[in-house]
Amino acid sequence: MNIIDRVYAMSEQLTPNGKLKHLLSIEGLPRDLIEEILLRADTFIDSQTNALNKSYDLKDISVANLFYEMSTRTRTTFELAEKRLSADILTLGISDSSTGKGESIDDTVLNLHAMGCDIFVIRQSQETEIKRIATEVLPNCAVINAGDGTRAHPTQALLDLYTIRHFKGDLSNLNIAIIGDIHHSRVAHSELEIFKTMSAKSIRLIGSEHLLSDDYANEQVSVHRNIDEGIKDCDVIITLRIQKERMESDLVPNEDEYFKLYGLNAERLTLAKPDAIVMHPGPMNRGVEIASDVADGPQSVILNQVCFGIAVRMAVLSMVTETLNR
Ligand code: CP
Repeated sequence: MNIIDRVYAMSEQLTPNGKLKHLLSIEGLPRDLIEEILLRADTFIDSQTNALNKSYDLKDISVANLFYEMSTRTRTTFELAEKRLSADILTLGISDSSTGKGESIDDTVLNLHAMGCDIFVIRQSQETEIKRIATEVLPNCAVINAGDGTRAHPTQALLDLYTIRHFKGDLSNLNIAIIGDIHHSRVAHSELEIFKTMSAKSIRLIGSEHLLSDDYANEQVSVHRNIDEGIKDCDVIITLRIQKERMESDLVPNEDEYFKLYGLNAERLTLAKPDAIVMHPGPMNRGVEIASDVADGPQSVILNQVCFGIAVRMAVLSMVTETLNR
């Protein structure tokens, strides 16, 4: 059984000749298109210095960033990516839009389209809303999912893949662990899809039964209740925060106890391979899912993830611009 409902289809995201039209989910993206996005990202970043190149791929294109949920990294890295690509940009959060006066998201995006916006980057808590906007409300625009509820965060999965390949190479040789609140994590759900598509050697999900169901297990994915057992000999360890805002009841009453059971500390990290990398999509809760000395330590690539995120988002924006019906 696959725990993630199948709601995204390849045809919704791609043009008839297989080019990227919208980015709604990793589900439905063929492996060669994922490779193309990573290769395009390479063209935007200096591999030695990580400096981002300037490009004119989005010159005369207006991009609307609509964030109906809080964000630090995704919103700002999309903005930086758009500016690096020479786009005209605007960003609306839920508190500075007319949503509070009763305006629907459909009316908001139609007004922004009337102002000339052709690309929409949207973060929204209601699952499937972004897909509906892409397919029914704005079919002639490009829509990029910047995180929808607990389901999908495709650009995070792409930047995480980019980071892993940068430091560790091909996924077919890698044991990858994801620790924490898998159930409520759109990052984990998109990572699972992308790691499966890229044929990771093994994917180990680690967490308590409240935050991780046995139903995730299959021939490529194993479920572990014991963190020490799960991270043994891993090449990549991804830690996730507890998403209390998405829980109907308090599934993790005591953060100290959680850290003892599932927190990644320096002693536990020694169970992984000596050259294992530590990742976190952010925001981090230090002392809950990860110890500060691990987050800031030599094996951490957490800030590299953020930097690579700009190049990966530049790649996605550049590719959807090529298929715009203008
Ligand atoms: N990783 C991530 O989505 O972070 P933000 O919520 O800060 O955008």
